[in-house]
Amino acid sequence: MGGRRQEAGGRSRRQEQEAGAGGRRQEAGGKGSRQYAVFPIDFVERRLGWAAPRCIIHPMQNKEIRFASRPAGMPTLDNFQIVEADVPKPNDGEVLVRTLYISVDPYLRGRMREGRSYVPPFEVGQVITSGIVGEVAESRSPVFQPGDVVTGMLGWRLYNVVKPGELRKVDPRIAPVTTPLGVLGMPGLTAYFGLLDIGQPKQGEIVVVSGAAGAVGLTVCQIAKIKGCRAVGIAGSDEKNRYLREELGVDATINYRTVQKPDRQEGISNAGGMLHALKEACPKGIDVYFDNVGGEISDAVLPLLNHGARIVICGQISLYNLDKADVGPRPHPYLLVNSALMKGFIVSDYAARFSEGVTQLAQWLAEGKLKYAETVVKGFENTPRAFIGLFAGENLGKQIVKVADA
Ligand SMILES: NC(=O)c1ccc[n+]([C@@H]2O[C@H](COP(=O)([O-])OP(=O)(O)OC[C@H]3O[C@@H](n4cnc5c(N)ncnc54)[C@H](OP(=O)(O)O)[C@@H]3O)[C@@H](O)[C@H]2O)c1
Repeated sequence: MGGRRQEAGGRSRRQEQEAGAGGRRQEAGGKGSRQYAVFPIDFVERRLGWAAPRCIIHPMQNKEIRFASRPAGMPTLDNFQIVEADVPKPNDGEVLVRTLYISVDPYLRGRMREGRSYVPPFEVGQVITSGIVGEVAESRSPVFQPGDVVTGMLGWRLYNVVKPGELRKVDPRIAPVTTPLGVLGMPGLTAYFGLLDIGQPKQGEIVVVSGAAGAVGLTVCQIAKIKGCRAVGIAGSDEKNRYLREELGVDATINYRTVQKPDRQEGISNAGGMLHALKEACPKGIDVYFDNVGGEISDAVLPLLNHGARIVICGQISLYNLDKADVGPRPHPYLLVNSALMKGFIVSDYAARFSEGVTQLAQWLAEGKLKYAETVVKGFENTPRAFIGLFAGENLGKQIVKVADA
């Protein structure tokens, strides 16, 4: 089964981003991955005059990114601290993993807040964790060999010591090694189960997706198309919307940043130009709304719901940086008169079915029915910056940090 990448002008979107094209800022390569200094044998023999081993391995330096303080509003670089550390030694049964790619995700903002949620908050001083793809540098476990590519929820470190049960092998022959962080990982599965299990889209129905050009959103849009629906995407730039229409076949798009606002119609305060734009894009109403952002964008969907509509509450990114609870319209009357369903979910609710989801997503990829985009920022030290960039819409598709070459 061959993985597919989103092609743009003959190159994958990821290649384009790494090359600095497509309007994406590129940070210069990080200073992180300088652990192995390998000199040619003849150089060693000539300069040092002693029989050389196959290579010289300099003492390795580790770095880690700690959660320094809880953000008030939008996170800033001050909320993170980059610290040098020793490379840990694996004990019997453990492996040492060298980080190659780090996933930054909006839900991490929730973990920076104190209080009860579906995952415990980060403690101040703790190393931040998220999805990571790495390479086994040293193994004291029979399960993994040095050189194996693996993925797991690991610390934002150059090197992590990990128990084998926390890792999954990545097969680079199936798809590029970054895909377990995106289309074949948590975001892809979120799109798959949220849309199909809760949204239950049927042929010919109208599916509206907010956050449509992000990792989850662009997968939802494409699954809606695979299921024969009319897909309408809402995203924050004309370039993103063009990508959705021209590369992914999304039927109509709305740039929420340029619609006029606010006005007050149909009891939905501030829905304004968003409601107008949605009416134009969905003259027959909305059957499924996949909500990645919440707030005013989602308010505007309510008056357009069709009978039996389903609202999938996946994310509320527009609210994540608010310190006070947002006040919006009460959705209940709209749900009542339309016999509509509104349901939230966390992707881990579907853990028992993950292999089904990955198998189907990988098959669609191999068949060319599903594409993906990645925005890759280079350099370990730029991880906090890449995370903060999510809230400014700097990413198209999955936001990843490249730490080192395999
Ligand atoms: N329920 C679950 O289990 C689950 C799992 C994964 C993700 N999620 C949620 O799903 C959503 C998408 O996640 P993702 O990983 O795919 O992230 P993403 O969409 O790749 O990245 C975030 C995007 O959100 C948009 N955004 C940021 N601030 C916004 C605002 N104030 N109003 C409207 N849009 C805003 C930006 O795009 P624009 O340029 O369009 O503004 C940005 O690119 C998030 O809310 C996330 O928390 C939920």
